[in-house]
Amino acid sequence: MLKIRNGKIWRDTKGNVIHCHGGGFLKQGDFFYWFGENREQGRLVSCYRSLDLVSWEFCNDVVTSATHPELRSANCERPKVLYNEKTQTYVMWLHWENGVDYSAARCGVLISDRIDGSYEYLYSFRPLGHMSRDCTLFKDDDGAAYFISAANHNADLHIYRLSEDYREIAALEMVLWPGESREAPAVFKRGQYYFMVTSGCTGWHPNQVKYAYAESITGEWSPLINIGTPTGYDTQPTYVLPIVGVQQTTYLYVADRWDPSNYHNSRYVFLPFEFASDTALDLQWASELAVDLELGVVETTVNQSNLYRMRANLQYLAVDNFEGVAPVSFSRLNYANENQLWDLEYSNSNSFRIRHYLSGKYLTPRNLSNEPHSEIVLDEHKSHISQEWTVKPTGDGYVSILNSYSKLALTFGSDEEQKLLQMPFAKEGDAACDRQKIILARVYE
Ligand code: GAL
Repeated sequence: MLKIRNGKIWRDTKGNVIHCHGGGFLKQGDFFYWFGENREQGRLVSCYRSLDLVSWEFCNDVVTSATHPELRSANCERPKVLYNEKTQTYVMWLHWENGVDYSAARCGVLISDRIDGSYEYLYSFRPLGHMSRDCTLFKDDDGAAYFISAANHNADLHIYRLSEDYREIAALEMVLWPGESREAPAVFKRGQYYFMVTSGCTGWHPNQVKYAYAESITGEWSPLINIGTPTGYDTQPTYVLPIVGVQQTTYLYVADRWDPSNYHNSRYVFLPFEFASDTALDLQWASELAVDLELGVVETTVNQSNLYRMRANLQYLAVDNFEGVAPVSFSRLNYANENQLWDLEYSNSNSFRIRHYLSGKYLTPRNLSNEPHSEIVLDEHKSHISQEWTVKPTGDGYVSILNSYSKLALTFGSDEEQKLLQMPFAKEGDAACDRQKIILARVYE
């Protein structure tokens, strides 16, 4: 059986790289149709289809910058499509921006009478006057459809009921988790419960994925519950795809692994949700998935990596040049840059050396007796405790990384001083504490 290979470049049946980001699915017959963002020249939303979720045939650029004057220089994000029985049309909702910044905060609506036809642009607007950014659609068992979008500068998540033809907003039903800034919503229903999976708001940098559940989509929703690692295995949700088989239904978490340094290098990750009870959702990493569509069963394989990235304040510890005794610096996440990869070599259960993957050199403090001029460099292996570190969890997935010899804490540069070399190191609690709140993000491939 062909396998889904998470986080790798995916190509369509013609060998072209699949660009279908922030996407969603619609099943028709035996085909899964996949709609998503495509930022290649002139394209906006592309559609692919597959019979097995592995081999994808390109269907059409269903929305392009030529579709309508209002799309000429627009950004269209997170497109989702539903079929409306009443009008027998396919209705697409997406996040519409002016192409320059994110100030428009509107939704856009398009229709087509063919699933992979060229969609006709109807309009873009702010639902009932509210800002609307990351969004999704959900069709309930009774045919009622909902548009869920991040409102109020992304602080709140709104659930709107759509009109019967799915082309307009009928009512604002819910304001969820006000002030908690959740985005990238994906909704599904399993048994008696509705689930919503969301991310936090750190742009294309991954963060803690959370879920919530409710007995009615417009009823009371649970508080938000963490799921997966602090960076969601380096993903952001976009959709949940139920695989309905004769043996069981598996719910696939469909996510983007955005590359904030190169959007076009962004990848996809599909993971089967696990359920410990009717309301307890779990998400484990899998490198490869074999999906048995007939049975509804997904088998997974894991290739464990021992490499990590270290980040604080969305800055990743990196080494640009590792000749001689090399300084360390910080840069934004870049999956193509192996200079951001680190290996933790445990000497015993809680003390380890931090080895730079590419150069084989170790994180080493220098000028320890001359604070504040002490700094961290990369150096050859030494038989000294100063190259040893311990991790101290500080809650919510963060850790402090303390030098075993000096007890000083690894301290990251702030946003303004990305290349900060002078004081990458300070007494625990000395520097603005978010510069010592580190996410030790394991590499998941
Ligand atoms: C994310 C959002 C993405 C995209 C990105 C742009 O927060 O989920 O869809 O808008 O920001 O930075």
